[in-house]
Amino acid sequence: KMIYFVTPTYPRPEQVPELTRLAHTLMHVPRLHWIIADDQPACSDIVSDILRRSGLPYTHISSPKPYIYKESNIPRGVANRRASLTWLRDNVHEGVLYFGDDDNTVDLQLFDEIRQTKKVSMFPVGLIGTYGVSTPVVKDGKVVAFFDSWPGSRTFPVDMAGFAVNIEFLKPSASMPYIAGHEEDRFLVSLGLKLDEIEPLAANCSKVLVWHTKTAKYKKPSLKINLEKIDDLPKYGDF
Ligand code: UGA
Ligand code: MN
Repeated sequence: KMIYFVTPTYPRPEQVPELTRLAHTLMHVPRLHWIIADDQPACSDIVSDILRRSGLPYTHISSPKPYIYKESNIPRGVANRRASLTWLRDNVHEGVLYFGDDDNTVDLQLFDEIRQTKKVSMFPVGLIGTYGVSTPVVKDGKVVAFFDSWPGSRTFPVDMAGFAVNIEFLKPSASMPYIAGHEEDRFLVSLGLKLDEIEPLAANCSKVLVWHTKTAKYKKPSLKINLEKIDDLPKYGDF
């Protein structure tokens, strides 16, 4: 079975390093199709170049967020994930969908596990929220509850990186709302998912195989550089 790895992304100084690192992980995974959905009016050449050089089968979609969300910058990655869902619906009839953000860290073991997803599988996500981990709670091999530092009156309080979906289980009704914090839950609810259908992975959710890592925002140096006065630049040893 193919894995369809859906990555929303947007331009910023950290984008190329994040996508480079992610590409180098995905290059180790057989039968993986990378869908990158660009939060831009057109597919960026910088992103295309990373995709091409990865040698992976890929689809590059441009899907900017609606204008009203430009200022607030939240919810993140919704228009682009929606566009990916539409592309999948039109082009793919079997396989496994996984939403892999550009800044997460994934253990290769996770790919072997999610490939077996029959309907919806779930597993822990590390380095997230105030509890440090978000995970389903498993009893006798079944998911019975969720451990997440922000329940937020959600039916399935999980992170976007904490589940995979068999594409045959993607209903035409599958949707993701523009509501920050509720994207995952509403998406899973829109699939008609029931608690007892969830397949716990990662040794009954006892192992962390994906992390919600965050890269520190690059700050522009305060040093002003006047290229016409290049000789006046501080030299090594001046500091
Ligand atoms: C967390 C979850 O991991 C996301 O899957 C979820 O979309 C997000 O919360 C949310 O609910 O808003 P977080 O690490 O807080 O994510 O957010 P980012 O990593 O900044 O963004 C998530 C994804 O959306 C990334 O792949 C990012 O590149 C993309 N994004 C972000 C855009 O496409 N456009 C933006 O303007 C911002
Ligand atoms: Mn993130």
